[in-house]
Amino acid sequence: MKKIITLVLIGFCFLNKLQAQTKPDSAFENKMKWFADAKLGIFIHWGIYAVDGVSESWSFYNGYMNHDDYMKQLNGFTAKNYNPQQWADLIKESGAKYAVLTAKHHDGVALWNSKMGGINVVKNAPAKKDVVQPFIDALRKNGLKAGLYFSLIDWSYNDYDCFVKNEKRYTSDSIRWSKFLNYYQGQLKEISSQFNPDLYWFDGDWEHNATEWQAEKVRAMLLEKNPNTIINSRLAGHGDYATPEQGVPVFKPKDKYWELCLTINDSWGYQPHDHAYKSSGMILNILVDCISKGGNLLLDIGPKPDGTIDEKQVKVLKDLGRWTKKHSEAIYGTQAGVPLEYTNYPTALSADSTTLFVYVNGIPDGNIYIKGLQNKIQRARIVGNGAIVETNVLGKAYWSEIPGILSVEVPADLCDEEITVVALLLDGKIRLYK
Ligand code: GLC
Repeated sequence: MKKIITLVLIGFCFLNKLQAQTKPDSAFENKMKWFADAKLGIFIHWGIYAVDGVSESWSFYNGYMNHDDYMKQLNGFTAKNYNPQQWADLIKESGAKYAVLTAKHHDGVALWNSKMGGINVVKNAPAKKDVVQPFIDALRKNGLKAGLYFSLIDWSYNDYDCFVKNEKRYTSDSIRWSKFLNYYQGQLKEISSQFNPDLYWFDGDWEHNATEWQAEKVRAMLLEKNPNTIINSRLAGHGDYATPEQGVPVFKPKDKYWELCLTINDSWGYQPHDHAYKSSGMILNILVDCISKGGNLLLDIGPKPDGTIDEKQVKVLKDLGRWTKKHSEAIYGTQAGVPLEYTNYPTALSADSTTLFVYVNGIPDGNIYIKGLQNKIQRARIVGNGAIVETNVLGKAYWSEIPGILSVEVPADLCDEEITVVALLLDGKIRLYK
Protein backbone atom coordinates (compact mmCIF):
# COMPACT_ATOMS: atom_id res chain seq x y z
CA MET A 1 0.00 0.00 0.00
CA LYS A 2 2.81 2.35 1.04
CA LYS A 3 4.53 1.63 -2.26
CA ILE A 4 1.40 2.52 -4.21
CA ILE A 5 0.98 5.81 -2.35
CA THR A 6 4.62 6.69 -2.98
CA LEU A 7 4.26 5.88 -6.67
CA VAL A 8 1.09 7.97 -6.94
CA LEU A 9 2.85 10.87 -5.21
CA ILE A 10 5.86 10.65 -7.50
CA GLY A 11 3.54 10.53 -10.50
CA PHE A 12 1.65 13.56 -9.22
CA CYS A 13 4.85 15.56 -8.72
CA PHE A 14 6.03 14.59 -12.20
CA LEU A 15 2.76 15.68 -13.77
CA ASN A 16 2.85 18.94 -11.87
CA LYS A 17 6.35 19.64 -13.11
CA LEU A 18 5.38 18.80 -16.65
CA GLN A 19 2.42 21.15 -16.42
CA ALA A 20 4.60 23.93 -15.08
CA GLN A 21 6.91 23.45 -18.03
CA THR A 22 4.20 23.45 -20.68
CA LYS A 23 1.85 26.04 -19.19
CA PRO A 24 2.48 29.49 -20.66
CA ASP A 25 3.97 31.82 -18.10
CA SER A 26 0.89 33.88 -17.36
CA ALA A 27 2.83 36.61 -15.57
CA PHE A 28 4.82 37.06 -18.76
CA GLU A 29 1.68 37.02 -20.94
CA ASN A 30 0.09 39.59 -18.65
CA LYS A 31 3.09 41.85 -18.85
CA MET A 32 3.07 41.62 -22.68
CA LYS A 33 -0.67 42.27 -22.97
CA TRP A 34 -0.61 46.04 -23.58
CA PHE A 35 2.17 45.59 -26.11
CA ALA A 36 0.38 42.82 -28.00
CA ASP A 37 -2.82 44.88 -28.10
CA ALA A 38 -1.15 48.15 -29.12
CA LYS A 39 -0.36 47.42 -32.81
CA LEU A 40 1.04 50.89 -33.46
CA GLY A 41 3.89 52.71 -31.76
CA ILE A 42 5.92 55.78 -32.72
CA PHE A 43 9.71 55.63 -32.71
CA ILE A 44 11.50 58.96 -32.25
CA HIS A 45 15.10 59.42 -33.29
CA TRP A 46 16.00 62.79 -31.84
CA GLY A 47 19.63 63.72 -31.49
CA ILE A 48 22.39 66.08 -32.53
CA TYR A 49 22.56 64.38 -35.95
CA ALA A 50 19.45 66.41 -36.87
CA VAL A 51 21.52 69.62 -36.76
CA ASP A 52 23.45 68.91 -39.97
CA GLY A 53 20.85 66.40 -41.10
CA VAL A 54 23.31 63.51 -41.28
CA SER A 55 22.82 59.86 -40.49
CA GLU A 56 22.58 59.16 -36.77
CA SER A 57 26.00 58.15 -35.38
CA TRP A 58 26.86 56.19 -38.53
CA SER A 59 28.01 59.34 -40.36
CA PHE A 60 31.19 59.53 -38.28
CA TYR A 61 31.54 55.80 -37.75
CA ASN A 62 31.53 55.23 -41.51
CA GLY A 63 33.84 58.20 -42.12
CA TYR A 64 31.41 60.48 -43.97
CA MET A 65 32.49 63.18 -41.53
CA ASN A 66 35.02 63.14 -38.73
CA HIS A 67 34.11 62.72 -35.09
CA ASP A 68 35.02 66.32 -34.17
CA ASP A 69 32.79 67.78 -36.86
CA TYR A 70 30.01 65.42 -35.87
CA MET A 71 30.25 66.56 -32.26
CA LYS A 72 30.14 70.24 -33.31
CA GLN A 73 26.47 69.58 -33.96
CA LEU A 74 26.01 69.73 -30.19
CA ASN A 75 26.12 73.54 -30.58
CA GLY A 76 23.02 73.49 -32.74
CA PHE A 77 20.90 71.25 -30.56
CA THR A 78 18.73 73.94 -28.99
CA ALA A 79 15.42 72.19 -28.27
CA LYS A 80 14.12 75.75 -28.07
CA ASN A 81 10.70 74.97 -29.52
CA TYR A 82 10.41 71.58 -27.89
CA ASN A 83 6.86 70.98 -26.77
CA PRO A 84 6.61 67.46 -25.36
CA GLN A 85 2.86 67.76 -24.84
CA GLN A 86 2.42 68.56 -28.54
CA TRP A 87 4.47 65.48 -29.41
CA ALA A 88 2.41 63.30 -27.10
CA ASP A 89 -0.84 64.75 -28.47
CA LEU A 90 0.23 64.05 -32.05
CA ILE A 91 1.22 60.51 -31.13
CA LYS A 92 -2.10 59.97 -29.46
CA GLU A 93 -3.90 61.40 -32.47
CA SER A 94 -2.08 58.96 -34.77
CA GLY A 95 -3.66 56.08 -32.88
CA ALA A 96 -0.34 54.82 -31.53
CA LYS A 97 -0.46 53.41 -28.01
CA TYR A 98 3.20 53.89 -27.16
CA ALA A 99 6.31 55.77 -28.18
CA VAL A 100 10.01 55.04 -27.97
CA LEU A 101 12.48 57.94 -27.69
CA THR A 102 16.23 57.62 -28.32
CA ALA A 103 17.61 58.37 -24.86
CA LYS A 104 21.10 57.62 -26.19
CA HIS A 105 22.22 56.57 -29.66
CA HIS A 106 25.54 54.95 -30.68
CA ASP A 107 27.15 58.44 -30.66
CA GLY A 108 26.88 58.41 -26.86
CA VAL A 109 24.98 61.69 -26.59
CA ALA A 110 22.46 61.29 -23.79
CA LEU A 111 19.23 63.30 -23.83
CA TRP A 112 19.15 63.42 -20.03
CA ASN A 113 21.59 64.77 -17.49
CA SER A 114 23.55 61.61 -16.80
CA LYS A 115 25.79 61.77 -13.78
CA MET A 116 27.85 58.84 -15.06
CA GLY A 117 30.02 61.02 -17.31
CA GLY A 118 29.87 60.92 -21.09
CA ILE A 119 28.24 63.55 -23.26
CA ASN A 120 24.73 64.89 -22.80
CA VAL A 121 22.53 67.67 -24.12
CA VAL A 122 22.06 69.25 -20.70
CA LYS A 123 25.77 69.76 -20.08
CA ASN A 124 27.09 70.01 -23.62
CA ALA A 125 24.39 71.60 -25.81
CA PRO A 126 22.42 74.86 -25.76
CA ALA A 127 19.30 72.80 -24.99
CA LYS A 128 20.59 72.81 -21.39
CA LYS A 129 17.70 70.67 -20.21
CA ASP A 130 16.64 67.10 -19.75
CA VAL A 131 14.27 66.38 -22.61
CA VAL A 132 13.36 62.84 -21.56
CA GLN A 133 11.33 63.35 -18.39
CA PRO A 134 8.87 65.90 -19.80
CA PHE A 135 8.14 63.63 -22.74
CA ILE A 136 7.55 60.60 -20.53
CA ASP A 137 5.23 62.69 -18.37
CA ALA A 138 3.30 63.93 -21.40
CA LEU A 139 2.91 60.41 -22.80
CA ARG A 140 1.66 59.09 -19.49
CA LYS A 141 -0.71 62.01 -19.13
CA ASN A 142 -2.18 60.94 -22.49
CA GLY A 143 -2.51 57.33 -21.34
CA LEU A 144 0.30 56.15 -23.60
CA LYS A 145 3.15 53.81 -22.71
CA ALA A 146 6.65 55.23 -22.65
CA GLY A 147 9.64 53.42 -24.10
CA LEU A 148 13.29 54.47 -24.21
CA TYR A 149 15.85 53.46 -26.81
CA PHE A 150 19.31 52.87 -25.39
CA SER A 151 22.38 51.98 -27.43
CA LEU A 152 24.73 49.54 -25.72
CA ILE A 153 27.41 50.79 -28.08
CA ASP A 154 28.89 54.16 -27.18
CA TRP A 155 31.43 55.08 -29.86
CA SER A 156 32.35 58.35 -28.12
CA TYR A 157 33.15 56.96 -24.69
CA ASN A 158 36.84 56.77 -24.05
CA ASP A 159 36.72 53.34 -22.42
CA TYR A 160 34.58 51.75 -25.09
CA ASP A 161 36.72 49.62 -27.41
CA CYS A 162 35.23 50.43 -30.84
CA PHE A 163 35.50 53.96 -32.19
CA VAL A 164 35.10 54.25 -35.95
CA LYS A 165 35.07 51.65 -38.69
CA ASN A 166 38.39 49.79 -38.76
CA GLU A 167 39.70 51.71 -35.74
CA LYS A 168 39.57 50.43 -32.22
CA ARG A 169 40.76 52.08 -29.02
CA TYR A 170 41.93 48.71 -27.70
CA THR A 171 41.45 45.05 -28.40
CA SER A 172 41.68 43.44 -25.02
CA ASP A 173 41.83 45.48 -21.85
CA SER A 174 39.68 44.14 -19.05
CA ILE A 175 40.22 47.23 -16.87
CA ARG A 176 38.93 49.64 -19.50
CA TRP A 177 36.13 47.28 -20.45
CA SER A 178 34.95 47.02 -16.86
CA LYS A 179 35.04 50.83 -16.61
CA PHE A 180 32.77 50.90 -19.62
CA LEU A 181 30.44 48.29 -18.14
CA ASN A 182 30.20 50.33 -14.99
CA TYR A 183 29.41 53.45 -17.01
CA TYR A 184 26.73 52.02 -19.24
CA GLN A 185 25.07 49.99 -16.51
CA GLY A 186 25.16 53.06 -14.28
CA GLN A 187 23.32 54.99 -16.99
CA LEU A 188 20.71 52.25 -17.16
CA LYS A 189 20.28 52.44 -13.40
CA GLU A 190 19.66 56.18 -13.77
CA ILE A 191 17.12 55.52 -16.51
CA SER A 192 15.31 52.89 -14.51
CA SER A 193 15.16 54.92 -11.33
CA GLN A 194 14.43 58.33 -12.89
CA PHE A 195 12.14 57.42 -15.79
CA ASN A 196 11.04 53.86 -15.06
CA PRO A 197 10.15 53.22 -18.73
CA ASP A 198 7.46 50.73 -19.72
CA LEU A 199 9.77 49.43 -22.41
CA TYR A 200 13.52 49.35 -23.08
CA TRP A 201 14.52 49.39 -26.72
CA PHE A 202 18.13 48.23 -26.79
CA ASP A 203 20.30 48.52 -29.86
CA GLY A 204 23.87 47.84 -30.96
CA ASP A 205 24.37 44.47 -29.30
CA TRP A 206 26.24 43.14 -32.36
CA GLU A 207 29.65 44.49 -31.27
CA HIS A 208 29.89 42.16 -28.25
CA ASN A 209 28.33 38.96 -27.02
CA ALA A 210 25.85 38.48 -24.18
CA THR A 211 28.58 37.53 -21.70
CA GLU A 212 30.65 40.60 -22.51
CA TRP A 213 27.65 42.92 -22.18
CA GLN A 214 26.57 41.06 -19.01
CA ALA A 215 23.14 40.93 -20.61
CA GLU A 216 21.61 38.55 -18.10
CA LYS A 217 22.63 40.77 -15.19
CA VAL A 218 21.32 43.87 -16.95
CA ARG A 219 17.98 42.22 -17.64
CA ALA A 220 17.68 41.11 -14.03
CA MET A 221 18.57 44.60 -12.81
CA LEU A 222 15.88 46.26 -14.93
CA LEU A 223 13.24 43.72 -14.00
CA GLU A 224 14.07 44.01 -10.35
CA LYS A 225 13.19 47.68 -10.52
CA ASN A 226 10.07 47.07 -12.59
CA PRO A 227 8.98 43.46 -13.22
CA ASN A 228 6.47 44.68 -15.79
CA THR A 229 8.90 46.49 -18.01
CA ILE A 230 9.29 45.05 -21.52
CA ILE A 231 12.70 44.54 -23.12
CA ASN A 232 13.25 44.22 -26.87
CA SER A 233 15.36 41.46 -28.40
CA ARG A 234 18.49 43.52 -28.90
CA LEU A 235 19.94 42.82 -25.48
CA ALA A 236 21.98 39.99 -26.94
CA GLY A 237 19.10 37.53 -26.85
CA HIS A 238 17.80 38.51 -23.41
CA GLY A 239 14.66 40.29 -24.52
CA ASP A 240 10.93 39.66 -24.71
CA TYR A 241 10.10 40.32 -28.36
CA ALA A 242 11.62 40.31 -31.83
CA THR A 243 12.49 43.47 -33.77
CA PRO A 244 12.58 43.03 -37.54
CA GLU A 245 13.83 46.23 -39.14
CA GLN A 246 12.56 47.98 -42.30
CA GLY A 247 11.18 44.88 -44.08
CA VAL A 248 7.71 43.57 -43.25
CA PRO A 249 8.17 39.85 -42.58
CA VAL A 250 7.15 37.87 -45.66
CA PHE A 251 5.77 35.05 -43.53
CA LYS A 252 4.21 35.30 -40.10
CA PRO A 253 7.16 35.30 -37.69
CA LYS A 254 7.54 32.36 -35.33
CA ASP A 255 8.02 34.69 -32.36
CA LYS A 256 4.79 35.31 -30.54
CA TYR A 257 5.62 38.97 -29.94
CA TRP A 258 7.26 41.15 -32.56
CA GLU A 259 7.42 44.71 -33.80
CA LEU A 260 8.56 46.01 -37.16
CA CYS A 261 10.53 49.24 -36.90
CA LEU A 262 10.23 51.36 -40.02
CA THR A 263 11.45 54.77 -41.14
CA ILE A 264 8.94 57.30 -42.47
CA ASN A 265 11.32 58.15 -45.35
CA ASP A 266 14.73 56.49 -45.65
CA SER A 267 16.26 57.98 -42.49
CA TRP A 268 15.86 57.41 -38.77
CA GLY A 269 16.80 60.94 -37.77
CA TYR A 270 15.80 64.25 -39.39
CA GLN A 271 17.45 64.59 -42.80
CA PRO A 272 15.84 67.46 -44.73
CA HIS A 273 17.21 66.23 -48.07
CA ASP A 274 15.61 62.84 -47.73
CA HIS A 275 12.44 63.17 -49.77
CA ALA A 276 11.75 59.46 -50.01
CA TYR A 277 8.65 59.68 -47.86
CA LYS A 278 6.36 56.70 -47.79
CA SER A 279 2.79 57.72 -48.49
CA SER A 280 0.23 57.49 -45.70
CA GLY A 281 -1.54 54.80 -47.71
CA MET A 282 1.63 52.74 -47.95
CA ILE A 283 2.24 53.01 -44.23
CA LEU A 284 -1.36 51.99 -43.52
CA ASN A 285 -0.89 48.94 -45.71
CA ILE A 286 2.27 48.06 -43.79
CA LEU A 287 0.39 48.52 -40.51
CA VAL A 288 -2.33 46.16 -41.73
CA ASP A 289 0.31 43.70 -42.88
CA CYS A 290 1.79 43.71 -39.34
CA ILE A 291 -1.64 43.38 -37.69
CA SER A 292 -2.58 40.46 -39.94
CA LYS A 293 0.61 38.65 -38.95
CA GLY A 294 0.08 39.35 -35.25
CA GLY A 295 2.73 42.04 -34.80
CA ASN A 296 3.16 45.77 -34.19
CA LEU A 297 4.42 48.61 -36.35
CA LEU A 298 6.86 51.04 -34.73
CA LEU A 299 6.87 53.95 -37.16
CA ASP A 300 9.84 56.27 -36.85
CA ILE A 301 9.90 60.06 -37.05
CA GLY A 302 12.88 62.40 -36.65
CA PRO A 303 12.25 65.78 -35.03
CA LYS A 304 14.37 68.83 -35.87
CA PRO A 305 17.05 70.06 -33.45
CA ASP A 306 14.75 72.79 -32.14
CA GLY A 307 12.19 70.15 -31.23
CA THR A 308 9.66 70.80 -33.97
CA ILE A 309 8.41 68.03 -36.22
CA ASP A 310 8.51 68.40 -39.99
CA GLU A 311 5.03 69.01 -41.38
CA LYS A 312 5.37 66.08 -43.78
CA GLN A 313 5.79 63.79 -40.78
CA VAL A 314 2.95 65.48 -38.91
CA LYS A 315 0.69 64.91 -41.91
CA VAL A 316 1.45 61.18 -42.07
CA LEU A 317 0.68 60.82 -38.35
CA LYS A 318 -2.59 62.70 -38.73
CA ASP A 319 -3.55 60.58 -41.75
CA LEU A 320 -2.89 57.46 -39.70
CA GLY A 321 -5.09 58.95 -37.01
CA ARG A 322 -8.03 59.40 -39.34
CA TRP A 323 -7.90 55.73 -40.32
CA THR A 324 -7.08 54.22 -36.91
CA LYS A 325 -9.88 56.17 -35.23
CA LYS A 326 -12.46 54.95 -37.73
CA HIS A 327 -11.24 51.34 -37.60
CA SER A 328 -10.16 50.96 -34.00
CA GLU A 329 -12.17 47.76 -33.41
CA ALA A 330 -10.26 46.11 -36.26
CA ILE A 331 -6.86 47.16 -34.87
CA TYR A 332 -6.38 47.11 -31.10
CA GLY A 333 -6.52 43.83 -29.27
CA THR A 334 -6.86 41.80 -32.45
CA GLN A 335 -4.87 38.70 -33.26
CA ALA A 336 -3.32 37.43 -36.49
CA GLY A 337 -5.81 36.53 -39.19
CA VAL A 338 -6.14 33.52 -41.43
CA PRO A 339 -3.21 32.44 -43.60
CA LEU A 340 -3.02 34.15 -46.97
CA GLU A 341 -3.85 30.86 -48.72
CA TYR A 342 -7.48 31.44 -47.73
CA THR A 343 -7.94 34.85 -49.28
CA ASN A 344 -6.12 37.52 -51.25
CA TYR A 345 -6.63 40.02 -48.46
CA PRO A 346 -4.90 40.47 -45.13
CA THR A 347 -7.20 39.59 -42.22
CA ALA A 348 -7.23 39.70 -38.42
CA LEU A 349 -9.37 38.04 -35.79
CA SER A 350 -11.09 39.62 -32.84
CA ALA A 351 -9.68 38.55 -29.46
CA ASP A 352 -12.48 35.97 -29.06
CA SER A 353 -11.96 34.62 -32.61
CA THR A 354 -15.59 35.16 -33.60
CA THR A 355 -15.14 38.13 -35.92
CA LEU A 356 -12.92 38.07 -38.96
CA PHE A 357 -11.75 41.48 -40.17
CA VAL A 358 -10.86 41.66 -43.86
CA TYR A 359 -8.77 44.62 -45.01
CA VAL A 360 -9.48 45.70 -48.56
CA ASN A 361 -7.04 48.13 -50.10
CA GLY A 362 -8.52 50.42 -52.76
CA ILE A 363 -11.84 49.73 -54.43
CA PRO A 364 -12.34 46.07 -55.30
CA ASP A 365 -13.42 45.17 -58.79
CA GLY A 366 -16.52 43.29 -57.70
CA ASN A 367 -16.88 41.11 -54.61
CA ILE A 368 -14.11 39.74 -52.40
CA TYR A 369 -13.73 36.02 -51.76
CA ILE A 370 -12.63 33.78 -48.91
CA LYS A 371 -12.04 30.03 -49.21
CA GLY A 372 -12.11 27.31 -46.60
CA LEU A 373 -14.27 29.04 -44.00
CA GLN A 374 -16.47 26.50 -42.26
CA ASN A 375 -18.49 29.00 -40.24
CA LYS A 376 -21.75 30.53 -41.26
CA ILE A 377 -21.72 34.32 -41.48
CA GLN A 378 -24.20 35.88 -39.10
CA ARG A 379 -23.65 39.43 -40.21
CA ALA A 380 -21.25 41.25 -42.51
CA ARG A 381 -20.69 44.96 -42.19
CA ILE A 382 -18.29 47.71 -43.12
CA VAL A 383 -16.29 48.86 -40.10
CA GLY A 384 -16.57 52.54 -39.31
CA ASN A 385 -19.92 53.21 -40.98
CA GLY A 386 -22.08 50.31 -39.85
CA ALA A 387 -23.45 49.43 -43.31
CA ILE A 388 -24.53 45.80 -43.68
CA VAL A 389 -23.25 44.08 -46.82
CA GLU A 390 -24.36 40.95 -48.57
CA THR A 391 -22.60 37.61 -48.44
CA ASN A 392 -23.14 34.45 -50.47
CA VAL A 393 -21.61 31.01 -50.52
CA LEU A 394 -20.72 29.90 -54.01
CA GLY A 395 -19.80 26.50 -55.40
CA LYS A 396 -20.64 24.39 -52.35
CA ALA A 397 -20.98 20.80 -53.46
CA TYR A 398 -23.66 19.15 -51.32
CA TRP A 399 -21.72 15.87 -51.21
CA SER A 400 -18.38 17.42 -50.20
CA GLU A 401 -17.03 18.53 -46.86
CA ILE A 402 -15.08 21.33 -48.50
CA PRO A 403 -16.75 24.67 -47.75
CA GLY A 404 -17.85 26.77 -50.69
CA ILE A 405 -16.35 30.13 -51.53
CA LEU A 406 -17.61 32.97 -49.41
CA SER A 407 -18.34 35.99 -51.55
CA VAL A 408 -18.68 39.37 -49.86
CA GLU A 409 -20.05 42.45 -51.53
CA VAL A 410 -17.96 45.60 -50.96
CA PRO A 411 -19.82 48.46 -52.64
CA ALA A 412 -17.56 51.20 -53.96
CA ASP A 413 -19.59 53.96 -52.32
CA LEU A 414 -18.93 52.43 -48.89
CA CYS A 415 -15.18 52.15 -49.41
CA ASP A 416 -12.69 54.05 -47.32
CA GLU A 417 -10.31 56.32 -49.23
CA GLU A 418 -7.41 54.08 -48.13
CA ILE A 419 -8.35 50.68 -46.71
CA THR A 420 -11.88 49.41 -46.17
CA VAL A 421 -12.44 46.88 -43.40
CA VAL A 422 -15.20 44.28 -43.59
CA ALA A 423 -16.21 42.65 -40.30
CA LEU A 424 -17.60 39.14 -40.65
CA LEU A 425 -19.43 37.98 -37.55
CA LEU A 426 -19.11 34.19 -37.43
CA ASP A 427 -21.43 31.65 -35.82
CA GLY A 428 -18.83 30.90 -33.14
CA LYS A 429 -15.06 30.65 -33.07
CA ILE A 430 -13.47 30.49 -36.48
CA ARG A 431 -13.16 27.04 -38.05
CA LEU A 432 -11.01 26.61 -41.11
CA TYR A 433 -11.04 23.73 -43.52
CA LYS A 434 -7.55 22.25 -43.69
C1 GLC B 1 19.91 50.19 -36.55
C2 GLC B 1 20.83 51.38 -36.61
C3 GLC B 1 20.36 52.54 -35.86
C4 GLC B 1 18.89 52.73 -35.73
C5 GLC B 1 18.21 51.43 -35.47
C6 GLC B 1 16.72 51.54 -35.38
O1 GLC B 1 20.26 49.32 -35.54
O2 GLC B 1 22.10 51.08 -36.15
O3 GLC B 1 20.99 53.69 -36.33
O4 GLC B 1 18.71 53.57 -34.67
O5 GLC B 1 18.55 50.51 -36.42
O6 GLC B 1 16.14 50.29 -35.38
